[in-house]
Amino acid sequence: SQQAQPAAAKVLKVGAEATFPPFEFQDEQSKDYVGFDVDLMKAIGKQMGVEVQIVNTAFDGLIPALESGQIDVIASAMTITDERAQKVSFSQPYYKSGLSIIVKADNNDIKAFKDLEGKRIAVQIGTTGAEAARRITDAKVREFNSASEAFLELKAGGADAVVNDLPVNEYYLAKGGSKDAKLVGEVLSAEEYGVAVTKKNTELAEKINKALEDIKQNGEYAKIYEKWFGR
Ligand code: ARG
Repeated sequence: SQQAQPAAAKVLKVGAEATFPPFEFQDEQSKDYVGFDVDLMKAIGKQMGVEVQIVNTAFDGLIPALESGQIDVIASAMTITDERAQKVSFSQPYYKSGLSIIVKADNNDIKAFKDLEGKRIAVQIGTTGAEAARRITDAKVREFNSASEAFLELKAGGADAVVNDLPVNEYYLAKGGSKDAKLVGEVLSAEEYGVAVTKKNTELAEKINKALEDIKQNGEYAKIYEKWFGR
């Protein structure tokens, strides 16, 4: 007689642009993908009884990858915007964020968003930061594949400012960036991150929302938050 085989665990393919610490990045030693979003998706996967696999994808390629079925969800510190919500379905918000400005430590010229007029601004391609920079009068916006390349451009003197997500700017400064860079001005915008699925996949969207609620209730979300943002 035939032995029943245990069903192989389903794998949820999670698209992320994985050079965005502390949300998604590669551990230098193990090369594993780590970060707040990675832990969050693992916890969500556990609730759903599925395995989670991170698929490193260019940020501006994430929605196309979702639409073509290469990935099942996006968890990439992606801000919930009206424009994106026309193409994908977002979960309930899972993190409150906003945009901020970083300049060279010795820059006394740029103190607020209004001082960015006519300036050279480095951003990550396809992001809300890139969009905000493009709306500034006469700004020379340079788009890079990653936020870390934008930070390098600032350091090298090729840009006057970086416009990027506040928690990522803060992490960069805390991990050594503050030797030659600093945050200026107020947080520009209230943004919230969401997990994205295709419009068609309402069942998956519901499962993710349910799992998110569960991990908020059982303390798992708070643990993950503390791990990456507690001091
Ligand atoms: N929150 C910003 C946006 O949605 C930037 C996200 C960049 N994420 C990343 N993993 N590189 O546009």
